[in-house]
Amino acid sequence: MDAVVYPVNDFGPLMKGLAIGGLGIFHVFTAHFAIGGGMLLCYFQWLAMTGRSKSARAFLDGYFRYLVLISFVTGALTGVGMWFTSIQVSPVTIGLMIDEFHWLWAVEWTFFCLEVVAGYAAFKYGSRLTDKARLILLALYSFAAWMSLFWINGILSFQLTPGAWLESRSLIDAFFNPTFLPSLLYRTVASLVVAALVAMVLINLAGSFSRPEREELVRQAAWLMAPMAAMPLLGIWFLAAMPPDSREWVMGGSMAMTMMLTIAIGASALVGGYALFGLIRNQLYINGATALVLAGLAFAATAGGEFVREGVRKPYTLRELLYSNAIRPDQVAALRQRGLTSIDPFPLRHEDQLPQINGQPHPILRKGGLVFRQQCSVCHTTVGLNSLSGLTKRWDGEMKRQNFAKLQKLKPFMPPFAGTAEELDSLVEYVSWLEQDRPKTWPDPQANPVEYSARLERIRKWLEEAGTEPALVRESKAIAQGGR
Ligand code: HEC
Repeated sequence: MDAVVYPVNDFGPLMKGLAIGGLGIFHVFTAHFAIGGGMLLCYFQWLAMTGRSKSARAFLDGYFRYLVLISFVTGALTGVGMWFTSIQVSPVTIGLMIDEFHWLWAVEWTFFCLEVVAGYAAFKYGSRLTDKARLILLALYSFAAWMSLFWINGILSFQLTPGAWLESRSLIDAFFNPTFLPSLLYRTVASLVVAALVAMVLINLAGSFSRPEREELVRQAAWLMAPMAAMPLLGIWFLAAMPPDSREWVMGGSMAMTMMLTIAIGASALVGGYALFGLIRNQLYINGATALVLAGLAFAATAGGEFVREGVRKPYTLRELLYSNAIRPDQVAALRQRGLTSIDPFPLRHEDQLPQINGQPHPILRKGGLVFRQQCSVCHTTVGLNSLSGLTKRWDGEMKRQNFAKLQKLKPFMPPFAGTAEELDSLVEYVSWLEQDRPKTWPDPQANPVEYSARLERIRKWLEEAGTEPALVRESKAIAQGGR
């Protein structure tokens, strides 16, 4: 397949991955709550109907249902927001996913429609319906909300573990991929936990309940957290189903990933420990403040977990199929010959701020800016978070040339460089220009043709040595130990 260049947005000092990630974490948390909240309402309706709880009905008619409404509305809005950000960051990834999962996505949306209609009807008319009708409506809402998780989970987990699909190209293999089940179950448990914790905060905040009523409601809500006992196993199952090199990221291969995983595990363990031993086994009471702290920990666990799930895919957005910078592994060799800047029709932002040569924007710096945008900007900024000029500040030109040429060996979570030697050298010039605070004039390296072609020759040799394949974590550790 030939390379195509799409226009992508520039979020300035904010990394693109973080723009998506930040929104994503918020989206996942509210969506989890909307699912678990529905289940909790079903459970309390059943408790009320069967006379198992005297206060459940008051709880059902209280504020919790407003929160469920707010969460599925914000879940929906941030979901649309995810589409808007993803198409600005990686249209190619989204395009491939839509091609592959077209009808499944349509199915997800029909469930989502059902969720919205049933949820709103239960919110608006619930208290006027018979018990049985209310239960059915709440069950319909919860089922629809869980089913939209079911579908989206298959699509998301495919990105990390396409599994047998790589050979068979069958939709069934893509959807029921190796991490489909552990992550579906894990998310279901997480949804219940978030809902139970938020309910506990509300039970405490609502002034209308007496202390014994509050104790009873808290005890009932705590049961929804019992499945947390399965979380460690589900987590291990998920890790075991992950590709080995991704697993190495979180097992010490990358500081950031390992740290985030530790946060996720630590926060979950605190919440789980309190729920299982304090609330369920010893029937302790929990006050609003403690419940709020635990809900905060659950948010931290969600954030850490999502960060890891997104991060361990590097250098891919679709494992083995598409690198994070929208270049396919099978295109790299050809792009080393042809380059990608010549077919990029989109203007460079702030081109007028580049130094000029003969009244035109400096051609090499302009080319370097394009290479940066195409190949690096998805994970790096020019100035700001993870900025290239910051990372290479102490490197001279030659060191940059060599390391950029061997990008995947430098850090295996980066894809191999996919351009010509000239493009690589232009990128080095561009990064050096940024490092020196964008001076008004910049020399033309082509002014000395002999030195310039010798330089390109050296880059070609390094590119050759690096090869066009992605690297493994293990290799890079060996390189680091051998002393680069
Ligand atoms: C898939 C995401 C991704 C892409 C694409 C990417 N990088 Fe990186 N790069 C990273 C991450 C993550 C780091 C680690 C930053 C850190 O250690 O703080 C990094 C670090 C670096 C470093 C510092 C390495 C060191 O040993 O200190 C350099 C240099 C670098 N990248 C250059 C590039 C260049 C040039 C490109 C484009 C041709 C690029 N990167 C594309 C993710 C990426």
